[in-house]
Amino acid sequence: MRQSDIWAVAACLALSLVGANAAKEHSPIPLPSYHYGAKIPVSCLNRSMHDSLIHVSSPSDTGEHIEDDKNQLQYIPFPVCNETGKPLELQYGIEEELNCTIPFITDPFFHLLEFYIHNDAPLTCRLPARPPPTIQTVPAEPITQEYIPLIFALAGTLQLSHLHVSTHLNILLHSTPKHHLHPHDSGVLDSGAAYSTSPISHVTGPAALTKKLVIGDPLPLSFSIRWFPTPALPTTNGKVEWAGMGGHVYASTIFYCFVSFGAGAAVCTVWFWGVVLPKRVRGRGLGGATPLGYGLNGAAGAKLGNGWGMGTGTGKRID
Ligand SMILES: *[C@@H]1O[C@H](CO)[C@@H](O)[C@H](O)[C@H]1NC(C)=O
Ligand SMILES: *[C@@H]1O[C@H](CO)[C@@H](O)[C@H](O)[C@H]1NC(C)=O
Ligand SMILES: *[C@@H]1O[C@H](CO)[C@@H](O)[C@H](O)[C@H]1NC(C)=O
Repeated sequence: MRQSDIWAVAACLALSLVGANAAKEHSPIPLPSYHYGAKIPVSCLNRSMHDSLIHVSSPSDTGEHIEDDKNQLQYIPFPVCNETGKPLELQYGIEEELNCTIPFITDPFFHLLEFYIHNDAPLTCRLPARPPPTIQTVPAEPITQEYIPLIFALAGTLQLSHLHVSTHLNILLHSTPKHHLHPHDSGVLDSGAAYSTSPISHVTGPAALTKKLVIGDPLPLSFSIRWFPTPALPTTNGKVEWAGMGGHVYASTIFYCFVSFGAGAAVCTVWFWGVVLPKRVRGRGLGGATPLGYGLNGAAGAKLGNGWGMGTGTGKRID
């Protein structure tokens, strides 16, 4: 019984140390991270598509991406949404239903949509993984902004004279794990995906999630945005389970044991004083050596007392 207690204490302490090391590897990042609710601009690859009314087909009209004069791919802001008057923006950690109506589909954009829907060219967008630094450290090398790709898998069907676009999209975003998950955490983007839902839905009328589109029409996009606080997907029977970053975050006990040295130590302390010692008190009765003296004068007990601030004073108490 006592032997197994000692092993359990040792195992718990070891877990705490592993947790502490993991925390050390992650914590000293001086780079900025998004605060809950911070705005994240969406920018997309600029693609060539000339106005079909004023040009004859040329090889560059294949939805090819545009490079700038440094041969870098050129990203431009997502089209302006009529609702906000600004290009599409996401908000860090905020789960929402967002409408973004592109008020007027131009001829070039219409033809780009054809490419996107056929997947001849992807609707390639990206998000800055971190917010831009507000204070530039003086001598340091310039910080290169990192991005995560967000490909909008836009679904629909092509007709001779028009398109059907599946206008409702889910956007799933993962942020990097924190060692202490809690609601409204700040963090850094890890990855994301965006896709049209119900592309073969035959629902018509105002509830329709597909839109028949001709040049000059508005394109009413709607987005359901969900956030995951780790790169993992939610599981119920496995370890991670959550309801987004704004709500409750659950994780298994073992995960919490790993999260940090401090938490681990606290758990061990509570467990030792709350579970192990009372058991011994019950098991041994109160005659002779006191349980406290007995427990903490043993080899493992003494180590515990010294290393974990559990009060060597009580250990020395002899009645
Ligand atoms: C996208 O590229 C085209 C062709 O080079 C250019 O005319 C257009 O201005 C670019 N769009 C933006 C927003 O820079
Ligand atoms: C988005 O648009 C739909 C349909 O037009 C509307 O019912 C809904 O209230 C809008 N949602 C928001 C958040 O504006
Ligand atoms: C855009 O918004 C304005 C006012 O906010 C509204 O009058 C107009 O009808 C909207 N256009 C579209 C295509 O939704």
